[in-house]
Amino acid sequence: MSGPVQTRSGHWPGRVSLGLHWGVGFGVLGLIAFGFWLRTVSGGPDKTALVQIHKSFGVIVFVLALARVAWRVREGFPAPAGPHAAWERRSAIALHVFLVVATLLMPISGILRSLAYARPVSVFGLPVIPKLFEAKHETLYALAANLHDGLALALSAALALHVGAALKHHWVDRDGTLLRILGLHREGKP
Ligand code: HEM
Ligand code: HEM
Repeated sequence: MSGPVQTRSGHWPGRVSLGLHWGVGFGVLGLIAFGFWLRTVSGGPDKTALVQIHKSFGVIVFVLALARVAWRVREGFPAPAGPHAAWERRSAIALHVFLVVATLLMPISGILRSLAYARPVSVFGLPVIPKLFEAKHETLYALAANLHDGLALALSAALALHVGAALKHHWVDRDGTLLRILGLHREGKP
């Protein structure tokens, strides 16, 4: 039931697209789970160390997410793997755009939140952004923290829809959408 699957350059699903989808994907899922768990940990040196780990992985996922945007701009979004209704194509694109934008805004708001808390940003001890404020910047902190927390909820809901849609393609539409993101569907590859 699957038609030709091509992007602008004709390479889909390429190793880079799959690697970036799952690299960013597992990174984001892990950071969401870790971030929500962090809320339950009470303050102290142990929590500071755990937040450092969250921040370090967060910056790494940010770099991967930027690479993915560059790759999407170059390749375009994938053509549907089956004969889908127009509303389905539009919703898929809207949801994918939201996922991409949210994966950028999450680390950006996280970085701003840390800077506003008068902390530098480093990746496992390697300095990335120096401390910008001498004391907590209340307005910026409230803005960035609300954005980080609110987006985390919106992103979790969007991901539930995303995974639900992938399963619907597999079990209801019975097309190759889920298989090709898993790298198991070779049809349409040049
Ligand atoms: C168990 C987890 C996941 C499953 C089963 C899954 C499944 C899929 C599938 C089937 C597609 C195919 C689109 C197509 O071929 O037309 C896709 C694309 C996409 N997924 Fe996921 N996904 C998962 C996790 C994630 C996560 C965590 C994110 C974002 C943080 C994400 C973001 C995207 C985006 C932006 C696309 C559009 C194509 C691209 O940019 O690579 N996915 N996903
Ligand atoms: C894709 C990347 C990221 C995701 C998905 C993510 C997710 C989360 C989540 C779900 C929370 C808990 C939200 C809540 O308290 O309601 C959180 C907290 C937090 N995040 Fe992130 N985050 C990311 C990147 C970053 C980055 C890059 C930084 C900083 C450099 C950062 C700094 C923080 C801080 C300081 C907290 C508060 C921890 C606490 O005191 O409880 N995050 N994050």
